[in-house]
Amino acid sequence: MPESPTSLPRHVAIIMDGNGRWAKKRLLPRYAGHKVGVESVRKIVTHCTQQGIEVLTLFAFSSENWQRPQREVNLLMDLFLLSLRNEARRLHKNNVRLKIIGERKAFPDKLQRRIDEVEALTQHNTGLTLVVAANYGGRWDIAQAAQKLAEQVQAGLIKLEDITSAQLAPHLCLTDLPAPDLFIRTGGEQRISNFLLWQLAYTELYFTPILWPDFNQTAFEEALEAFASRQRRFGRTGDQVEQQNHLEKNS
Ligand code: IPE
Ligand code: IPE
Ligand code: MG
Repeated sequence: MPESPTSLPRHVAIIMDGNGRWAKKRLLPRYAGHKVGVESVRKIVTHCTQQGIEVLTLFAFSSENWQRPQREVNLLMDLFLLSLRNEARRLHKNNVRLKIIGERKAFPDKLQRRIDEVEALTQHNTGLTLVVAANYGGRWDIAQAAQKLAEQVQAGLIKLEDITSAQLAPHLCLTDLPAPDLFIRTGGEQRISNFLLWQLAYTELYFTPILWPDFNQTAFEEALEAFASRQRRFGRTGDQVEQQNHLEKNS
């Protein structure tokens, strides 16, 4: 019997929050939380690969996180670089395709180079697509897409009056991937914090108080179960959705 259309998300997007509080609770420096957070990333990537999830998008550093103390920002940049170094081979071996979204121009040169290298190394892999959002902001994403569209108008390629959301969409990050089905935010806050504003339009939202360094396979399974119990209506009625599911099951 075919699976119900909502049972497994194709694309999961996660705000990995709570590293600082995890460390503070243990009287450790915030950096210790970020370090253990990298281990959670490793676990969840492995689990997504095993489950056959197609895309995992992780929010690693927001465009607003530059406002943190310089020391923490520097440590986060170092950890990002180190993780890319340490994980590249393992990701490649596991057939993972890595993509970074966000304004990478702001990163130190060696980090930018490393990003390019790992993306190039893994670009033809056919397993999980792992998207890391770094110096990413949903508003930046929409603004940069609007800029590209405006260039096309200026060049006379499209008319101003022809602009609809369908013209803007191809210029946004993640346009070549299925839209996120499931959004998870750890750490207890119930907000989007300028993550994928456009792309989350019809995503199922899931919030958990678990701090990111404690987020493991069991916690992820719980989120997947919650997702499977949701009815996604996309503006239609519940009856219409049930009828369509019934038809699909019997086709
Ligand atoms: C998320 O954890 C990681 C980043 C934003 C880089 P936080 O560092 O925000 O942890 P809390 O929210 O202070 O606990
Ligand atoms: C969101 O977490 C960004 C990342 C997890 C990378 P924040 O900790 O920066 O969000 P706010 O400030 O609590 O909204
Ligand atoms: Mg936080």
